[in-house]
Amino acid sequence: MTEKSAQLNLGGNTLDLPIYSGTIGPDVVDVGKLTGAGVFTYDPGFVSTAACESKITYIDGGKGVLLHRGYPIDQLADNSDYLEVCYLLLYGELPSATEKQQFENTINNHTMVHEQLRNFYQGFRRDAHPMAIMCGVVGALSAFYHDSLEISDERHREIAAFRLIAKMPTLAAMCYKYSLGQPFMYPRNDLSYSENFLQMMFGVPCEEYEVNPILAKAMDKIFILHADHEQNASTSTVRLAGSSGANPFACIAAGIAALWGPAHGGANEAVLDMLTEIGDVSNVDKFVAKAKDKNDPFRLMGFGHRVYKNYDPRAKVMRETCHEVLGELGIKDPLLELAMKLEDIARSDSYFIEKNLYPNVDFYSGIILKAIGIPTSMFTVIFALARTVGWVAHWHEMISGSYRIGRPRQLYTGSPQRDFVPLDKR
Ligand code: SDX
Repeated sequence: MTEKSAQLNLGGNTLDLPIYSGTIGPDVVDVGKLTGAGVFTYDPGFVSTAACESKITYIDGGKGVLLHRGYPIDQLADNSDYLEVCYLLLYGELPSATEKQQFENTINNHTMVHEQLRNFYQGFRRDAHPMAIMCGVVGALSAFYHDSLEISDERHREIAAFRLIAKMPTLAAMCYKYSLGQPFMYPRNDLSYSENFLQMMFGVPCEEYEVNPILAKAMDKIFILHADHEQNASTSTVRLAGSSGANPFACIAAGIAALWGPAHGGANEAVLDMLTEIGDVSNVDKFVAKAKDKNDPFRLMGFGHRVYKNYDPRAKVMRETCHEVLGELGIKDPLLELAMKLEDIARSDSYFIEKNLYPNVDFYSGIILKAIGIPTSMFTVIFALARTVGWVAHWHEMISGSYRIGRPRQLYTGSPQRDFVPLDKR
């Protein structure tokens, strides 16, 4: 980090605040001295706050750039596969052929879950939202893996990472099977990660499941596009939970809970619900007007982003994949036509242009997931499944380095100190 500084004049004193530069992207101002000067920074929503140093993912919101360990997301989506991207996010480099095969074998060896974990599902109603189930069963993993909870042990951290990446598809598919009243399918080691997920979702014990290569490739690409995204709300939640020394399974369960919100990972489900509610192109103007109305809480789901003030590069790949998959499957989904019309209208509207509101990763993903046969309620579960490697990579990066427990302060605007009033005096 270079020797630059910013001067802050505070109550007649000048504070020298160090400025650090990264490899690429904005410099940061180290405000650690402010507490000693009796003030805090104030940045609700952390719009201008860098909470950590990281080498995993870089986003340039102005240019619509997303790099994983330096590799552009569109190149990874076109040339790599999800487990290779997992390796890259975890270890920082693309694997050799031998390393890739070893990693795939390792993940395959961890795809089964403890038989008793299956009983957790019985406690839920069949119509429970699958994200509610995932919050519960992923947190419960810490009750089964006491041999990999010593977070100061590098090997424990690595095994926990393998288990989480490997078991999320199994747990996710079990949510879907449970909702149908169908038997859980066991993972198969002869299938790729994405093929295996599809067979656990749609296979039945009564017959051999034929994997559709088009769907498996689309599923794998969706996993890649959701793998990581810098310090988003759920990743920051995982880091904050991890900073207290909580075990990795509990931290990932916290990330799942944060992702569930419609402003975050829940948006893909909300986009499909919104498109279904709009129903027809003739209603688009009405909904765009609602989205612009300050008095109406309605927002155009799948549009806008805290960081991207340009097209989300993942949405671009997702849009192309949408056309590919629906074309190859011979599906003409009116929701895709509607989504494209909505995008055209919104992006020519001055409100969206001025506020730099573009389609984000969630805008098109639901249409592909629907074409694959995934029910809307499972969309955010797919997002959580894919994002687990990002969460784990950030958790591992933090715990492997020097870190302190995260403990933000506040601007207090409550009552000044006052004495207790006995009941008979109130
Ligand atoms: C994800 O952080 C990540 O990286 C997240 C993610 C990841 O991979 O982890 O990329 C995944 O969460 C994508 C975002 C999915 N959410 C949605 O699609 C929900 C709809 N989008 C919005 O709720 C909103 O755009 C957010 C939450 C995504 C961003 O919110 P910000 O950065 O706090 O922006 P804001 O709410 O301050 O909006 C700025 C202005 C506001 O108007 P003004 O108050 O300035 O007049 O833009 C307006 C907002 O009202 N606005 C929208 C809008 N999004 C923002 N107006 C209508 N429709 C929208 N979708």
